[in-house]
Amino acid sequence: MSYEMIEFTRDAGVAKIRLNRPKALNALCNDMMAEVAQVLGELERDDAIGCVILTGSDKAFAAGADIKEMQENQYLDIYQNDPFNTYHEAIERFRKPIIAAVSGYALGGGCEIAMMCDFIIAADNAKFGQPEITLAVMPGIGGTQRLTRAVGKSLAMDLCLTGRMMDAEEALRSGLVARVVPLDELQDTVEEAARKIASMSLPIAMMTKETINVAFETTLTQGIRFERRLFQSMFSTEDQSEGMTAFIEKRQPHFKNK
Ligand code: CAA
Repeated sequence: MSYEMIEFTRDAGVAKIRLNRPKALNALCNDMMAEVAQVLGELERDDAIGCVILTGSDKAFAAGADIKEMQENQYLDIYQNDPFNTYHEAIERFRKPIIAAVSGYALGGGCEIAMMCDFIIAADNAKFGQPEITLAVMPGIGGTQRLTRAVGKSLAMDLCLTGRMMDAEEALRSGLVARVVPLDELQDTVEEAARKIASMSLPIAMMTKETINVAFETTLTQGIRFERRLFQSMFSTEDQSEGMTAFIEKRQPHFKNK
């Protein structure tokens, strides 16, 4: 399958999706996001893939939703088509681990799709922001909600109301990103993390992701109950038995994703 606006590569258990509209700083037009959604659908069904990386260019992860595409929209155009739900949120619905490797601008929708990933590893040149207010709109792909949960009310208000950019160090300090590395080490660092994740039992990794995400949707008591049920269910897998046996036998485990 060939794509026009993304590059897709895979190596062993890791797939990489690279947003590739350099002239538009990877602005998230609907056609590009339809390609992302299509690839993710295929990767979801591909048993060989254990982790996905979403990345952009050195200059821009993505500079936002495509302003030129949105400019002429009327309410009913975006209400009835709802491209954010159809395409962009395929990232949120993706059930396997997915890491955002962010260098350069991650603004507006770019920041929002990075936040839909399970975690963000950023290059030291990364710049995050929700500048939509400067266009007289606000974040529309979850930014007001996910950013607030990630960094807290005060900083989310600051970023969304002033539209200012936040550099990688501030993003690390505020908990938006998991790690910051020099730009020339970003791809190797993320690939290493992705390979590590892909070497784990896939169903266990998926259940771990699902359970952490429940923390954003529920009370502590309900979340802990959900965790306990899935933890117990893991004892029905061959991989749990293999993982613990391998530890006791002082050898590497061989997971079968069963
Ligand atoms: N949509 C469409 N095109 C964009 C774009 C976007 N979000 N961001 C950049 N581009 C285009 C520019 O129009 C320009 O195209 P032309 O060469 O045809 O003029 C090209 O990319 C390069 O951009 P600049 O010349 O502006 O590059 P720069 O290095 O001077 O500035 C920047 C970089 C600061 C990121 C600047 O491009 C910028 O401010 N971009 C817009 C950022 C923004 O407002 N994002 C939010 C979008 S709205 C949104 O995302 C809503 C939502 O939540 C759903």
